[in-house]
Amino acid sequence: MSQSDAPQGAPASEINYAAYLALNQLLSLQRTLSRPEHPDELLFMVVHQASELWFKVVLHELEALVARMQDKNALGALYTVGRLNALTRIVTAQLSALDTLPPQHFAQFRSFLGTSSGSQSSQFRAIEAASGLREPHFLHAISEHGEPPEIVREWLARPTLQALFDGMVSEAGTTYEELYTGPGPSALVLLAEGLLEYEQSFSLWRFLHVQLVERVIGPGTGGTGGTLGARYLQRTISTRFFPRLWEVRAKFFGAAKKD
Ligand code: HEM
Repeated sequence: MSQSDAPQGAPASEINYAAYLALNQLLSLQRTLSRPEHPDELLFMVVHQASELWFKVVLHELEALVARMQDKNALGALYTVGRLNALTRIVTAQLSALDTLPPQHFAQFRSFLGTSSGSQSSQFRAIEAASGLREPHFLHAISEHGEPPEIVREWLARPTLQALFDGMVSEAGTTYEELYTGPGPSALVLLAEGLLEYEQSFSLWRFLHVQLVERVIGPGTGGTGGTLGARYLQRTISTRFFPRLWEVRAKFFGAAKKD
C-alpha cells in the first residue's frame, strides 16, 4: 500500500495521517502552469482549490439542510444553517489572500490560465441552484456553453430553500408576517434569520470577489471567461435567494403590497 492510498477497510494500524488524508495525491495537485514558474501562481491556485473543497462541504451541508427542511425540522435546519454560515464565512475570508496579488504579478501569469474562469465552477453553480437562484441571468449563465453540468441540473430540479421554508411556514399554520409579530422568537423565526444571514454571507463573498477583481485586473478589464469582468459581476450582487424574507420587512413600514 502506498502511503497515500487509504483503502476503505484497511486496518486502523495501517492508517496514518498521510494515508488518511491522501496527502501525496492532495499535495501533488498544485500543478502550476506558468513557465518560468511565477512565484505567486501557487497561492492563486491554492485559494481556488481550497474554495472548491469548501464548496464540496457546502453542498454536503445543503443536502442535509434540504432534508431537514423537508422533514419540517426547524431546530435541525437551524443547526445546519449555523454550519453553512460558518463555511460561507471561511470561503469569503480566503479571498483576502489574493488581495496581496499585485496586478503586475498577475499579468505575468494570467495568459497561462487560458479560458479558465471561476464562472465555470460547477460546484459554485450547484450551490446557487440549491440555494434557490432561478433568475434569467443565472439560467443564461449556466447554459451559455451547452447543457448545464449534471450536478447543477440535479439541484435545479429540486425545490428552492425559499419554497421549502414556505412549506414549513404553512405547515405551522402561520404566515411570514406572524413569524415576526408572534409571542417570543420561535425556532422558525430563528431559522428565517439564519437563512437571511446565509444570504448576506453569500452576498458578501460576491461583493468582496468583485472588489478583488477590480483590485487585481481593474474595473474595465474583461474576464478570462469572456464576460465584462467586474461590470458583469457587479450585477450579481443584488441577487436574492429569499425574496419573501426580505419583502416581509416592508410590511412593518406601510409599504406592503396587498396580496
Ligand atoms: C485574482 C483573483 C481573481 C480574479 C482576477 C477573478 C476574476 C473573475 C472574473 C473576471 C470573473 C467573471 C467571469 C469571467 O469572465 O471570467 C470571475 C467569476 C467568478 N470567479 Fe473569480 N476571480 C478571482 C478569484 C476567484 C476565487 C479565489 C474564486 C473562488 C473559487 C473565484 C470564483 C469565481 C466564481 C464562482 C465566478 C462566477 C461568479 C458569478 O458568475 O456570479 N474567483 N472571476
